[in-house]
Amino acid sequence: METKLWHPFANMAEVKEHPFVVDRAEGVWVYDRDGKRYLDGTAGLWYCNVGHGRSEIVEAVAGQMRKLDTYFTFHDYSNEPAERLAARLSALAPMDDAKIFFTSGGGESIDTAAKLARLYWARRGEPERVHILSRRGSYHGTNGFGTGIAGIEANRDGFGPVLADATRVDRDDPEDLRAAIERIGAGKVAAFFAEPVQGAGGAWAPRPGYLEAVADICAETGVLFVADSVIGGFGRLGDWFGVERWGLRPDLITFAKGVTSGYLPLGGVAVSARVADVFWQAPGHAFPHGPTYSGHPSVAAAALANLDILEREELPARSRQMEKLLHEALLAVGEHAAVTEVRGGTGLLGAVRLAPEALPDKSVIHRVARSVREHGLIVRVLGGDSLVVSPPLTITDEELDFLRASMTAGIEAALS
Ligand SMILES: Cc1ncc(COP(=O)(O)O)c(C=O)c1O
Repeated sequence: METKLWHPFANMAEVKEHPFVVDRAEGVWVYDRDGKRYLDGTAGLWYCNVGHGRSEIVEAVAGQMRKLDTYFTFHDYSNEPAERLAARLSALAPMDDAKIFFTSGGGESIDTAAKLARLYWARRGEPERVHILSRRGSYHGTNGFGTGIAGIEANRDGFGPVLADATRVDRDDPEDLRAAIERIGAGKVAAFFAEPVQGAGGAWAPRPGYLEAVADICAETGVLFVADSVIGGFGRLGDWFGVERWGLRPDLITFAKGVTSGYLPLGGVAVSARVADVFWQAPGHAFPHGPTYSGHPSVAAAALANLDILEREELPARSRQMEKLLHEALLAVGEHAAVTEVRGGTGLLGAVRLAPEALPDKSVIHRVARSVREHGLIVRVLGGDSLVVSPPLTITDEELDFLRASMTAGIEAALS
């Protein structure tokens, strides 16, 4: 029967007859309705850092729902789980006295950070600082600002002008950022948004020195440096906020996904004292912005339990160890003649890129991904020519071996 469910990023003409229904999940495995298991090679959409089926999170949420199911945090309203979570994230964030603004996901966090950056400048008496810079190839979600600053062209195409004051700069060359700021005029630039490792663009680690250099350029020109750690946070890049391994101290950090391992939808922005003080120090200013579910107590309970697991099992450190092994596994897949490039080694994510000769038309890469799935591994097609993986941080050596074998077998079966 034809589905009524409209799938994001899908051509429903192709998907409507045969959606791939996931029925249950445990650890790194998900199961279809026939009970066949698949390794969740993508941790859902880069979020299931602690793996599936953690009853500790389920119990925490159920307990919170019985006590205070839901309430808002607008005006002076608050609740204990949201307070505790904000305090805990503030202590972990690599910035002075971080304040935490909660949202329901990554895209809302990008909108929040962009509006906050602009309002910061307006309240500081520089209302012309509205321009937002981002990197080519970047993905910042599909809300208004995220669409407007998207570095993946296809995600802006056809929507008309979304954000006039947005400029994209080269992915790897810090001098291109400097040139853009000089061209536009620092007095007109509010912020520079950057994913430390570009995820949806296809798993691209930064060139050595790039992030440090752009952070310096932002500091020199006063432009706010916003790290988009929606994918990179909570262990994916081996630390808490996805920037510490480069010694970065951004002005704002957007997060989501791994903060609850996706068990419930949560995002947020960590805001440094530089920005927050304008709003928090007397006489202060209100921020007329806020999603209904900002600081939702049951969602915060899920995050607190998830953080307990990440800390107790030292999963950020484990991710650092496993990133090398994942890279080696992908390099082994890369021995297949159809693979031209392997990306990985910076965080527990990576990609294999298939050669143009192996992809005579656009549909072939999707056929390859389906074949890999038939061989028991869920991967995503990103960048039009790459299979991308980002497994749960709990993945074991044996499961990595399964990942390597299924990927190789799936590619071989589809292309032979
Ligand atoms: C780097 C980055 N920023 C923002 C987002 C948007 O997050 P959401 O899909 O929760 O709105 C994503 C989603 O994948 C992302 O990868």
